[in-house]
Amino acid sequence: MHIAVVGLSHRTAPVEVREKLSIPEQTMEESLHNLRNHEQVLEASILSTCNRLEIYTLVRNPDLGIAAVRDFLSGHSGLESRDLSPHLFTYHHDEAIAHLMRVTAGLDSLVLGEGQILSQVKKMMRLGQEHKSIGPILNRLLTQAVSTGKRVRSETNLSTGAVSVSSAAVELAQLKLGQSRGQDALVTLETEQIAVVGAGRMSRLLLQHLQAKGASGVVLLNRTIERASALATDFPNLPIQCRGLDDLDQCLSTCSLVFTSTAVDDPIIDANRLNALNRRSSLRLVDIGVPRNIASDVRDVSGVESHDVDDLQEVVERNQEARQQVAREAEGLLLEEGRLFLEWWDSLEAVPTINRLRASLEEIRVEELTKALSRMGPDFSARERKVVEALTKGMINKILHTPVTQLRSPQQRSERQQALQVVEKIFDLESGAAAQD
Ligand SMILES: NC(=O)c1ccc[n+]([C@@H]2O[C@H](COP(=O)([O-])OP(=O)(O)OC[C@H]3O[C@@H](n4cnc5c(N)ncnc54)[C@H](OP(=O)(O)O)[C@@H]3O)[C@@H](O)[C@H]2O)c1
Repeated sequence: MHIAVVGLSHRTAPVEVREKLSIPEQTMEESLHNLRNHEQVLEASILSTCNRLEIYTLVRNPDLGIAAVRDFLSGHSGLESRDLSPHLFTYHHDEAIAHLMRVTAGLDSLVLGEGQILSQVKKMMRLGQEHKSIGPILNRLLTQAVSTGKRVRSETNLSTGAVSVSSAAVELAQLKLGQSRGQDALVTLETEQIAVVGAGRMSRLLLQHLQAKGASGVVLLNRTIERASALATDFPNLPIQCRGLDDLDQCLSTCSLVFTSTAVDDPIIDANRLNALNRRSSLRLVDIGVPRNIASDVRDVSGVESHDVDDLQEVVERNQEARQQVAREAEGLLLEEGRLFLEWWDSLEAVPTINRLRASLEEIRVEELTKALSRMGPDFSARERKVVEALTKGMINKILHTPVTQLRSPQQRSERQQALQVVEKIFDLESGAAAQD
């Protein structure tokens, strides 16, 4: 058995490729079942976020199992394998475990240390459990990754400053506005006419950062207006007008800065839509949706500046240096957690031998006990039989305790394999192996 991860991220693929691989929650069950139906794939879980699509898996054979996952990705995205392959990474075993730990801690995120990834890894675990695509190995690995993510956030300063894709989006808007005025600095948003499209988690964070950066008011548009109204009540100090998506054209005509963060499959704003409007002279669009909410052709529309999630790199790089130092501190913690998982994994190697040893001693116990009881005859009461039965079981458990603990304890793989061979040999376990496993 072999643990591996196959996937792509903002480091290996642009947003136009990532959006083709995104798997929404509604179709996750089907995707997990498709993967698990392959005879090479023993366990599988999918992490689908705006910046990555990663498949963590336990496979029988590394080459065949990984080929199955790659085929799945190619089929799902509709991309030919030759077009997709240059964007894919594959990590095996200890590297896959280390990668998951880094991802969960936010060290592989576009915005270093952002907090959303931890809940996304929790969600991947929950969906894997609900749809029964993960078993004991990935369950243990994901549980350990989540607790590592929590440790990093509570034991280091990585998450201070409430960083997120949304905060980077607001900073990008400030930076670009500054640059358009000839300043290389973040400017206040006080005079901008701002709209936010979407009222989910990322929009909540957008509102928080817009408020913090001086926005004097926001138009909040959402498919479900009630959800926008509920969100607005959490910002009593920020004037928010809530509207339905029917008012999108009007907002695009009057606003100067529009953020989009809805979970749509296809763009809701494109060049045709903008060209049909009687717009004010300049409009800046910042889209953090993946799949993108704004089509790339809007970049050709005069008076429109448009940015997508990949453009956030520019502001992110400005802030990374201080966080990199904290990230280095977190790496030690990740190594420790990765090692703990590997020790547990290695200890599993001893399980078949331990099971055979137990079964062999149990067979002897039952055989000898049956003989002894038959010699005792009918005078031996049921209570006395129970006492003798418990006595023999207790003796076997005591005898096994130390060797079983030793075989399971953390040690070099070669040492464990040597010890397992000795146990197999001296108790003659190999001959009955197939029957006992
Ligand atoms: N979560 C993250 O860490 C993260 C980071 C960066 C970017 N993103 C991207 O940001 C976007 C929003 O993410 P989120 O986490 O905020 O999602 P969310 O909390 O699930 O909210 C989804 C939003 O999208 C709207 N929506 C869904 N389907 C729609 C449709 N067919 N037409 C119109 N509106 C629709 C929902 O409107 P209703 O209220 O009417 O359902 C809601 O406003 C996604 O594209 C995601 O990939 C997320």
